[in-house]
Amino acid sequence: MRETLSSLFFLSTLAVMVACGRAPKAEESTVAPAAATARDPHSFARPDEVAVDHLALDLTVDFEKQTLAGTALLRLAEHHANRLLLDTRDLEIRSVKLGETGDTEAKFTLGAADASKPFLGRSLEIAITPEVRAVRIDYTTSPQAAALQWLTPAQAGSDQPFLFTQSQAVLARSWVPCQDTPAVRMTYDAKIKAPTNLLAVMSAENPTAKTADGVDTFRMPQRIPSDLLALAVGDLAFRPLGPTSGVYALPTVVEKAAWELADTPKMIAAAEALYGPYAWGRYDLLILPASYPFGGMENPRLTFATPTILAGDRSLVSLVAHELAHSWSGNLVTNATWNDFWLNEGFTTYFERRIVEAVYGRDFEEMEATLAVGDLHEDIERLGGPEHPDTRLRLDLAGRDPDDGMNDVAYEKGSLLLRSIEETVGREKWDAYLRGYFDRHKFQSIDTDGFLADLRQELIRGDAALEQKLALAAWIDGPGLPASAPKPQSDAFVRVDTALAALAQGKAPAALDTKGWNTQMWLRFLHGLTDASGEPTSIPTLTALDQTFRFTSSGNAEILCAWFEQTIRAGYHPADAALEQFLTSIGRRKFLRPLYAELVKTPEGLAQAKKIYEKARPTYHSVSQNTIDAMLGPTSSGG
Ligand code: BES
Ligand code: ZN
Repeated sequence: MRETLSSLFFLSTLAVMVACGRAPKAEESTVAPAAATARDPHSFARPDEVAVDHLALDLTVDFEKQTLAGTALLRLAEHHANRLLLDTRDLEIRSVKLGETGDTEAKFTLGAADASKPFLGRSLEIAITPEVRAVRIDYTTSPQAAALQWLTPAQAGSDQPFLFTQSQAVLARSWVPCQDTPAVRMTYDAKIKAPTNLLAVMSAENPTAKTADGVDTFRMPQRIPSDLLALAVGDLAFRPLGPTSGVYALPTVVEKAAWELADTPKMIAAAEALYGPYAWGRYDLLILPASYPFGGMENPRLTFATPTILAGDRSLVSLVAHELAHSWSGNLVTNATWNDFWLNEGFTTYFERRIVEAVYGRDFEEMEATLAVGDLHEDIERLGGPEHPDTRLRLDLAGRDPDDGMNDVAYEKGSLLLRSIEETVGREKWDAYLRGYFDRHKFQSIDTDGFLADLRQELIRGDAALEQKLALAAWIDGPGLPASAPKPQSDAFVRVDTALAALAQGKAPAALDTKGWNTQMWLRFLHGLTDASGEPTSIPTLTALDQTFRFTSSGNAEILCAWFEQTIRAGYHPADAALEQFLTSIGRRKFLRPLYAELVKTPEGLAQAKKIYEKARPTYHSVSQNTIDAMLGPTSSGG
């Protein structure tokens, strides 16, 4: 009967299962150990029937057509299934063949797309028999593939075009037909044919130099989930940072990048001292063009990062600590579904702060933690206030784009929960637990219940008083932030707040005591300009501040963003040209969202936002386009 289920019926059955909280029956589970957990509502795959074990890609990168074309060979673990269900999105499937050498044509069906859920794409059902241990899919991606951004040389800031992927959360299916769920792990290898003057790099063992024939080969011998598949192609140079780390970037950027990221080897050492050996061999970084929609992405062996961290003073490198920490939390121990995203990001944010503390000291770490708590409160308001269900750690995103759950709650509320456990049981005991957690679950996927069971078995151990103190249910399934949440404290910020108070009393900016302030202190200052009263800062004050501190021409993207939030709010127009320049040259969603959100609050601002977005939209990755479309509606240039 299973083989005849339409994908629609399959989905509604799943919805009922999820709604009733029914665990899959024993006969539906096994094969992949992860499939024993609840089914992933964002994937058509049935890894409980048959799981993909290895992926072999053979793709040609065509910058003219803006396509990847070639084959994906999927090797299957032992199974008894008569069908293989995969995820696809906007892929042209030319043929499916069975067996390692692909000699038998297979019957396949693409399921119907659901226009209300474009992020799910279409299921690809392939008829197999239990003897079939490999399928070979011949396919081409669409120029609109959601994971891919194709940049012209001008957009890339290069003499050459540039291509990069962003697979997390559910975009891998738009460039590789796969079981696109973090519950399945596979090894992979790839052969990528790109123009000979360009270098291809992947989340795998990478070449460090261009080849004569333009064909690069890659190997990822450790199992990873599909959202960690990554590829970039461009005119890239490489500089080592240490014996096991280095940075790739455009030749014009690579020296600056190597200087900025020089502390990477120290961070690796600090991370290993905290939670055990780094499991992936090399740790390299790739600095992408400015349109990269995220700050960073933890692609294994090769973190992808925005160039906006290159501030020239190493002040924004905690992003490296974050992506590096994912090598344990996320890449080694992986959230089983996107409902458990906080297991990836909350653990990683906690771990990031521990690395930052070890390398830069507690004072600096507390500045970043304090800023982050401020951002968390803003995000809770944006989501609908502290009672809103989206402010819970464990989410129910069935039927919604998983991107909806990717906000500061997962990161900061998650991290504060771990900090509160640390403060309750003591650092020594907590660190020993975490080291064990990473070791016990390495190369596996885990859901929130799996974490809770592990915590109870290994740390709480039946201690009823401790169980009560930790208030896990309130943290995990309750909205908002528990009143008992840890409160980071920064003495440096007390100095900033004193300056803010003096400014509010009418003291001239030049007379404020700002000697030796770092980026984080300036961010506190800029956020504080309206926080206390809610009233925008007056134009004369902003003018004086700008004359004294030159914010409008800052080279630091974090400072610019915080400054523009104030200038938009107050209607300080001397910053408009720089604001437009910023929004048309940078695609990082973290900066775009608050600035567009501030603009659309007034009719003039909305008109300004639409005008800028018309120009900027084609330069943004689909992830950022979707977010801004939802705020403004797509413009004529977008369709
Ligand atoms: N894994 C995330 C990026 C991501 C988030 C991809 C949501 C897809 C959906 C990455 O590790 C991350 O958290 N990046 C942050 C930077 C970090 C320092 C908080 C970012 O992009 O701003
Ligand atoms: Zn992260």
